[in-house]
Order: sequence, then structure tokens, then C-alpha cells
Amino acid sequence: MKLIIHGGFFSESSQSAETKLAKQEALKRIITSSYEFLRAHSAFETVIHAVAQLEDDPLFNAGTGSQIQSDGVIRMSASIMDGVSQRFSGVINIEEVKNPIRVAEKLFPADDRVLGGAGATRFARENGFPVFSTEIPQRRKEYEEKKRAAKVTGTVGCVAFDAKGHIAAATSTGGKGFEIPGRISDSATTAGNYANGFCGVSCTGVGEDIVSTAVATKIVTRISDGMDIENAFRKTFAELKEIDGFAGAIAIDHKGNVFHLDSHPSMVFASYDGSTFNCFD
Ligand code: GLY
Repeated sequence: MKLIIHGGFFSESSQSAETKLAKQEALKRIITSSYEFLRAHSAFETVIHAVAQLEDDPLFNAGTGSQIQSDGVIRMSASIMDGVSQRFSGVINIEEVKNPIRVAEKLFPADDRVLGGAGATRFARENGFPVFSTEIPQRRKEYEEKKRAAKVTGTVGCVAFDAKGHIAAATSTGGKGFEIPGRISDSATTAGNYANGFCGVSCTGVGEDIVSTAVATKIVTRISDGMDIENAFRKTFAELKEIDGFAGAIAIDHKGNVFHLDSHPSMVFASYDGSTFNCFD
């Protein structure tokens, strides 16, 4: 069993050493508790469990702590992909729910599995998700100072490889911050979150770059076609570099290989296999 999670990017210039330590500790707490969960649950159940915990931690830009858009409103996106059934579900620009990933989970068995905007929020209310403000004072302060956070792009994600060798991926984001209302993130698209029987990938970074390069889809397809995980990442990130793209990605393949790469330092990530904990530094 293997697990890898990410929590967006860490910017040395705009974040303190205390924040870095807090993020490292949060990742360790979340990945170890999620690994315990994985012992008795599937990869699919575990990626949702892990991403919900990341959404609940205000250190990360997803769920509570999400960035505020240019009109002062928080809109969040999240998706899940199960590598076994190759089913994908997600919400785009949903408002005032505590855990967007749980709404994506609720949509998973439905015929219409990706909902956006008011339709996503209405679906959440109709299915018992109460109104919940995910705004924290720090984000409002950043918004009011119009401090764009383009190099601190945050998103959270998880890829799990369970005891049966099944793979799943989940990703959740509060977006870039200060974006035009209606802008669509990569996180609830197959460019930002993709899995099949060969590999699962979750991305973070600038959504437009991730979509332009189809990062998660390409990595998974390359591995499905026989390329090894490192070369699949290197080739895809070389293509990302052609457009000067800003992104990071985490993955686990069908052999249990865990890999991550970022285009710029440094992606906030942690992996765990039950004995070895590896974390960004
Ligand atoms: N990757 C998150 C976003 O661009 O919205």
C-alpha cells in the first residue's frame, strides 16, 4: 500500500519558516492517519478521506482557507477518479460547502457526474450539505490588499494504491485567487486529476498551464502505453516547460512506484508506505 499527498506550492519569499513547519506537520498528520484508513479501505475511499482532511486544514487552499475571487466570493472545485471503474466525478466553482470533495463523492454514482456553479451548489443543498463559509481572515486580508498569490498556487490532492493494487486520485482547490468569476480550474478536469488501472495523478499549479499541457492525462497515458513513471513525468514536464508552465504533480503507478515532480520549487508534498515518510523540505 502506498500513499502520496500534496498541498500546493510553498513560496520561500512570501511564507515564513513557521508556515513551512506547520505545513510539514500537517502533511505528516494527514498522511499517517490516511494510511491507517487505507489499511481497511479502498484507494477510492482513501483519496476522498485524505483530501477532506486537507480541505479542513486552513493552511491549504482548498475547502476552509480557499482563495477569494475578484468579486469577493470563494468558489471551489474538486474531483475524484477511480482507476478501477475509470469513473470521474467533480464539482466546479461550488460555493459555501465545507468539503467539495464530499459533493464530488455524492455525484460519483450519478449519470451527470460533473456539475458547475449554481447547479453544483444546488445539488449540494438538495443532498444535505449545509451552508458553510470556508473563508478565513488571512484570505480576506490578502484579498483586501489585492496581493495576488500567483506563485503560491495551492491545491490539495491525494493518490492511493491499496492492498488490492487499485489506484485512485482526488484533487481539490480554492483556485488561483483574484480570478474572474466563472474561471475554471484544472482540478475538476482530467488534466488535473486522472487515474486508470496503470497510474493515478493529481496536479497543482496554474490551472491554465496544466490544462494546456493535459498534465495528468498525458502522464497516465504514457504509463499505460508502457513508459516508466519517471520518463512519463520528465517528458510531460518538458512539454510543460515549452509553454513556461507552472505545475507540480504526484503519482503512483500499478507497480507501486511513487513519483512527484514540480516545474518550480517547491511543491508541498508527502508520501508514506507504512514505514518510510518522505516530505518536502
Ligand atoms: N490548480 C488550481 C487552479 O489553477 O485553480
